[in-house]
Amino acid sequence: MRKKLIVGNWKMNGRRAMANELCSTIMHEMQNFKNIDVTLCPPFILLDEVRKMTADSECMLGAQDLDMHNDGAYTGQVSAGMLKDAGCEWVIIGHSERRTLFGETNLTVGKKAKQALDHGLKPIVCVGETEGERKAGQETSIVQGQLQSVIDEIGIDSCKDMTIAYEPVWAIGTGLTATPEEAQTMHAFIREQLDLQHDETAKACRILYGGSMKQDNAGSLLGCPDIDGGLIGGASLNAGEFLGICRSA
Ligand code: 13P
Repeated sequence: MRKKLIVGNWKMNGRRAMANELCSTIMHEMQNFKNIDVTLCPPFILLDEVRKMTADSECMLGAQDLDMHNDGAYTGQVSAGMLKDAGCEWVIIGHSERRTLFGETNLTVGKKAKQALDHGLKPIVCVGETEGERKAGQETSIVQGQLQSVIDEIGIDSCKDMTIAYEPVWAIGTGLTATPEEAQTMHAFIREQLDLQHDETAKACRILYGGSMKQDNAGSLLGCPDIDGGLIGGASLNAGEFLGICRSA
């Protein structure tokens, strides 16, 4: 039985005061969520603030990206070793915003996943098709390509330590959520791809859904057999919404 995982991706939002307020509200209810995993991924600069606020709880800490290199002359970048040192257990990799706005490719996503695993960080690798790709009936081939390039880089045996997030680009920040049927179909496809290569990995690997998940649609999505949690953007900035999603899980 895979434990549900709810991850808050704050994206480029927040200040210290906001982080304090949001975390303290979430912390009031954390003891009720013993049966699920909860992770918060604030911007780099707020990692320490959130680490302090969540230190006495089971809530885990994650980053939104990392550099594919070890420490060195890479101005402005943040390494896997730095994230470990800052208290991170998780790191989001290959978010569609990174792919479309910052030029990440399947190749760099694979290298970043490897870098995370080599440093004991758990990667949450994002995959998902655009609206145009879905309209053209290419959604499974796009997702398969994104997934396979990571598997090729890290090896199928390491995939048990990876979490996958299916985030259809057309559902991110748009208020348009994939229906539970659409999401389940893709999640089952992803698991089948893993199963073709290693059945134990397919059973163990958590596949999260992301894209306009809110407290009022979380229950039906999280009730699907292959949806093991959520990667939450906008709703993770609202304590009531985020807690509502955690309760659904
Ligand atoms: P929204 O929940 O705001 O649609 O964002 C989803 C997402 O991109 C999480 O990584």
